[in-house]
Amino acid sequence: MRVIPRSLFAISAIITTVFAAQHPWLDASLAFEERLLAFIGTLNDTQKYAMLTDNGTGVNACIGHISGNSTLGIPDICMGDGPAGVGNSLNNVTTFPAPVVAASTWNTSVQYAYGQALAQEHLGKGRNVVLAPTINILRSPLWARAAETFSEDPWLTARMAVAGVKGIQSQGALACPKHLAAYNQDTNRFGIGPDWVTVDAQVDRRVLHELYLPAFKAAVQEGDAASIMCSYNRLNGYFTCENDWLLNQTLRQDWGFKGFVVADWYFSTRSTVGAVMAGLDISMPGGDLTESYGFPDYYGELLVDAVQNSSVPSARIDDMVARVWRYMFKLGQIDNPVAGDSIAHVRTQAHLDLAQQMVEDGSVLLKNAESTLPLSSAKYPKIAIFGMDATTEAQVSENHGGFVIDSTMVVQAPLEALQRRGAAENISVKYAEAYPGTGQFPTIPSSMFKDGGVQATYYTNTNLTGPVNQTEFVRNITMASYPSALWQSWPQVFSTIYEGTFLPSTTGTYHFSLYGQGTALLYLDGALVANMGVAQLEAGSEVPLVLKYDMGYSLSTGAYGVTLGVDVGNATRDAEADALAQWADVSIIFVSDRISEGADSGLGLSLPGDQDAVIARLSALSKKTVVVLNTNSAVLMPWEGSVDAVLEAWYSGQQVGLALERLLFGDVSPSGKLPLTFPRALEDAVQISNAVDVPYSEGLYVGYRAYDASGVEPLYTFGHGLTYSNFSLNSMTATWDDNNRSGDVSVKATLENVGPVEARQVVQLYVGYPEQAEEPPKLLKGFEKIALHAGESKLVDLRVNTDDLKVWDVSVEDWVFVNGTYNFMLGFSAGDIRLHQELELRM
Ligand SMILES: *[C@@H]1O[C@H](CO)[C@@H](O)[C@H](O)[C@H]1NC(C)=O
Ligand SMILES: *[C@@H]1O[C@H](CO)[C@@H](O)[C@H](O)[C@H]1NC(C)=O
Ligand SMILES: *[C@@H]1O[C@H](CO)[C@@H](O)[C@H](O)[C@H]1NC(C)=O
Ligand SMILES: *[C@@H]1O[C@H](CO)[C@@H](O)[C@H](O)[C@H]1NC(C)=O
Ligand SMILES: *[C@@H]1O[C@H](CO)[C@@H](O)[C@H](O)[C@H]1NC(C)=O
Ligand SMILES: *[C@@H]1O[C@H](CO)[C@@H](O)[C@H](O)[C@H]1NC(C)=O
Ligand SMILES: *[C@@H]1O[C@H](CO)[C@@H](O)[C@H](O)[C@H]1NC(C)=O
Ligand SMILES: *[C@@H]1O[C@H](CO)[C@@H](O)[C@H](O)[C@H]1NC(C)=O
Ligand SMILES: *[C@@H]1O[C@H](CO)[C@@H](O)[C@H](O)[C@H]1NC(C)=O
Ligand SMILES: *[C@@H]1O[C@H](CO)[C@@H](O)[C@H](O)[C@H]1NC(C)=O
Ligand SMILES: *[C@@H]1O[C@H](CO)[C@@H](O)[C@H](O)[C@H]1NC(C)=O
Ligand SMILES: *[C@@H]1O[C@H](CO)[C@@H](O)[C@H](O)[C@H]1NC(C)=O
Repeated sequence: MRVIPRSLFAISAIITTVFAAQHPWLDASLAFEERLLAFIGTLNDTQKYAMLTDNGTGVNACIGHISGNSTLGIPDICMGDGPAGVGNSLNNVTTFPAPVVAASTWNTSVQYAYGQALAQEHLGKGRNVVLAPTINILRSPLWARAAETFSEDPWLTARMAVAGVKGIQSQGALACPKHLAAYNQDTNRFGIGPDWVTVDAQVDRRVLHELYLPAFKAAVQEGDAASIMCSYNRLNGYFTCENDWLLNQTLRQDWGFKGFVVADWYFSTRSTVGAVMAGLDISMPGGDLTESYGFPDYYGELLVDAVQNSSVPSARIDDMVARVWRYMFKLGQIDNPVAGDSIAHVRTQAHLDLAQQMVEDGSVLLKNAESTLPLSSAKYPKIAIFGMDATTEAQVSENHGGFVIDSTMVVQAPLEALQRRGAAENISVKYAEAYPGTGQFPTIPSSMFKDGGVQATYYTNTNLTGPVNQTEFVRNITMASYPSALWQSWPQVFSTIYEGTFLPSTTGTYHFSLYGQGTALLYLDGALVANMGVAQLEAGSEVPLVLKYDMGYSLSTGAYGVTLGVDVGNATRDAEADALAQWADVSIIFVSDRISEGADSGLGLSLPGDQDAVIARLSALSKKTVVVLNTNSAVLMPWEGSVDAVLEAWYSGQQVGLALERLLFGDVSPSGKLPLTFPRALEDAVQISNAVDVPYSEGLYVGYRAYDASGVEPLYTFGHGLTYSNFSLNSMTATWDDNNRSGDVSVKATLENVGPVEARQVVQLYVGYPEQAEEPPKLLKGFEKIALHAGESKLVDLRVNTDDLKVWDVSVEDWVFVNGTYNFMLGFSAGDIRLHQELELRM
């Protein structure tokens, strides 16, 4: 320890005191609002305008950067993605599981710990604003960002939102819940040129208040969120970032939000006066970066003009600047500024442990016929593992930059963990690839094209029409081969058609990968081959190949073009897999999809490629079959009836193998519950529209609310998830103290673990409303996750406040209580209600 002479302490204390006296905003003994006002009082107009927009992205580790002033002792604001860990391709960070895993734990303490860990890693990288959590309702399971958000249910989403915001802000970082509001599809999210008209979500007020806004309200009022991001879409005709009803009347006036509203990057600021007067505080990224895309920078000079011509009062500028800095003071970022930088090493063992625990707590055991799982040497001396997703190639994260993409990540592969376990327990564990995974396959080499390449024709629109810009012979189709003259032009709008002849070298099933941005359609011999598509090809044949590509307006990562890869057909691979399936006592098949921000699921809800066929073929040859899914959202399972067990592990982060080993071997019983419904058929789900006007005609009937009302059976209901034990629920009482009308309804019951092993169960409280309330059959209003040893029981007391039972009345534009008979239901999923009791409630 370095000993500092007392005299130096004294001098430094005097300097600090004098500095603080001249800079009262640095005096930690003053109230933060007082400090904030003192600081803003020192700023002139130039300085204020500069704080309302980005000062250069890519500065240090930030993707949004507001300069402070070091002379004044004020640090910079540094924002970064995102919701699943430190994104934007920074390294030495933890690849956490996707947020849907946290939601599937139904344990707000896990979500809180996730928030803490996200904040610690962002702060360690020098970022003080974490652009998370994503709390949009999963209106359709086809949404590209399904894994990034929490749930189809507003109650569960709100509980997770509050825990996430509190977890992040407990570390001093500023949370930024996003994206306000009704951003529920990526199709047309940037708009269709040349006017860049985006999706207009047409949602009635009641549906907004009851479904799409509760999580934001809770994040603000209960979580004290420092900031909010508005979205790309329009809401009832107005862009959300210039929507007075949304930002001014609802967020600010009704909910009392005091932090800043930041626009989603590049495209969501659409005006100067309109946006500023509706309540947008920060435009992002601003300056040249925005102008590059053919958009004006609506802040900067235009904002100065707007104040000069009195369209924006200068008091609003002060309000905006105060909002920008308020939580920097309140959460301690002025007194303890971040010190990290983009190359800091922030991945810790504690975070890896959390990443593992999340998968243990959030993987959902969907099916387990005849106790197929857990595995043991007595039951299964010979285990066969199939699929690239069992290896280090597992689909553990989204591919978009907002998610973690870390070249230093080490995936703890399930195969390795299971083989190690097998060796220790005298189980023979063998592997066959069976299916090449859903990653990027090797680029098709020029030797596999007749004439050593293909002809590329480029157009400067997105629909392969009009005059040809240029043609070129390319040896392979990669993003790098795109002519730089095109992608260096602004705005980048082009499409390409590639034409050539593919020469199969072997006979068998070929898998093709299309990796890049925008839309790519591959045709072999005239037939469309979907992304991750397959084709049966013969050695020596000549297969006409056409690839139509348009980069559209997918401008999110700065990489343009498409890379065409192939996994060459190989009959030996199939034969080896079949033999292994017949050899084993149990087959475990790992499958995945690969869906990321920017593109909604173009394949419906089917697993890509021929994975369904591989599962069907191998399960027919196997004694027992277990399927492990790494998917973004719900998937269809045409093979569900012919497999014995299904475990949904979502995009499960880098510790996937260690967690799955413990789950599959029963070291820990699965306890995850679905935060979304798995439909039996694609048409049972809300579809994603290709039009720009999107009426939310299903109203309140989203997710389980719709299935309950229509009687359509889902494949797996909301809230479903099995354990290795059995639980009973008894002796329910629902009571309400009607002398104390503002009080809680208390719903009690005894949960007992009546099965053989320690396990966890989630008791779910659903409420059925009086008919005149015109609500769906039942709404989730409470839940608690409980761990019990075999034979143990516990009294559960779930409380719901009568305020939380109110419905939105459009005639008075307020929450009202509907008198009548309420049905309180307790169960283990929306489809498994065990007990219920009615209560007459009058307020
Ligand atoms: C505000 O102060 C900065 C830095 O001292 C200076 O460059 C700028 O011209 C000033 N702006 C105004 C409007 O006085
Ligand atoms: C922008 O950031 C740079 C580098 O951090 C800094 O030197 C400059 O003063 C900042 N500009 C403004 C307007 O704050
Ligand atoms: C910081 O503030 C001081 C005092 O207003 C000013 O002189 C200086 O130019 C500012 N620095 C920056 C980078 O804005
Ligand atoms: C918000 O609404 C209030 C009341 O209608 C109005 O006075 C104010 O100018 C509006 N805009 C902002 C940004 O507060
Ligand atoms: C004021 O200036 C802003 C920004 O240039 C402009 O959008 C707006 O139309 C102007 N308003 C008036 C009344 O001139
Ligand atoms: C990872 O962290 C180490 C220090 O632990 C550092 O030396 C290295 O440069 C970092 N790597 C990257 C790619 O950031
Ligand atoms: C693609 O072709 C280019 C030459 O046009 C070559 O430099 C590059 O290595 C090739 N890439 C692959 C993966 O074959
Ligand atoms: C193709 O795109 C251009 C430019 O956006 C547009 O003018 C044209 O109408 C489009 N053509 C078709 C057939 O869609
Ligand atoms: C091709 O497109 C680029 C980028 O837009 C443009 O600069 C160039 O003039 C175009 N060439 C022709 C022949 O249209
Ligand atoms: C075919 O697959 C087998 C088994 O997976 C492998 O050993 C062999 O190298 C593959 N052959 C080709 C041509 O890829
Ligand atoms: C909920 O999560 C916390 C924090 O990880 C953990 O300590 C607790 O055991 C979990 N509860 C259950 C019932 O899983
Ligand atoms: C609901 O019941 C309470 C208590 O009996 C009564 O005061 C109130 O007027 C009733 N509300 C309506 C809308 O009937």
